[in-house]
Amino acid sequence: MKIRRAVTDDMIDFFELRNAEEVRKLAFNTDIIDLKTHKTWFTNQLNDPKSIMLVGEDRNTMVGQVRFTCLEGNSAEIHTAIFPEFFGQGSGQKIIRMGCQYLFANTTVEEVIAHILMTNTRSKHAFLKAGFGNETIVAFKGTECYRMVLRRKDDGDEPDKNC
Ligand SMILES: CC(C)(COP(=O)(O)OP(=O)(O)OC[C@H]1O[C@@H](n2cnc3c(N)ncnc32)[C@H](O)[C@@H]1OP(=O)(O)O)[C@@H](O)C(=O)NCCC(=O)NCCS
Repeated sequence: MKIRRAVTDDMIDFFELRNAEEVRKLAFNTDIIDLKTHKTWFTNQLNDPKSIMLVGEDRNTMVGQVRFTCLEGNSAEIHTAIFPEFFGQGSGQKIIRMGCQYLFANTTVEEVIAHILMTNTRSKHAFLKAGFGNETIVAFKGTECYRMVLRRKDDGDEPDKNC
């Protein structure tokens, strides 16, 4: 799998991924999103310097997305989804790992935070496999969920730009 920054042409792929039934039912907001709302959201994300939206693709086919929202204090929140036909084949843990590597190499972010619904066992396993830990239970968007963290490894890599 390769990771690259999302571009305007990815808008429809992100729309289809967001509304795929098996992805939607595991999201904090399970509503179907209409195209107009999605277009506005996607354009805002692309233009927001605090948002880093990445595409994971294999032989020019989009497998999924991983997105980071930079927060105060050198931390970022991660969101990810892959197309249901790729579930359960290791693509999730791969996109999470590669996305975090990209983030640590290109920003000053020190820790990545994941919020995972307690019913989302597959996601919890994928984040664990990608190296996330320090699990706690917190309220997030009004729902009790797992909070897991991945910290930048002290490997001497100098970040080359701010988030
Ligand atoms: C979460 C998501 C990215 C995980 O991707 P994935 O490719 O399916 O996950 P992976 O195959 O990399 O890893 C899942 C692990 O959980 C295990 N697993 C899968 N289903 C499971 C289940 N129902 N119960 C327990 N473990 C399960 C797998 O065996 C695998 O572990 P292994 O590598 O030891 O075999 C993907 O399922 C997805 O896009 N879901 C919808 C959106 C979503 O939930 N996003 C995350 C929000 S926090």
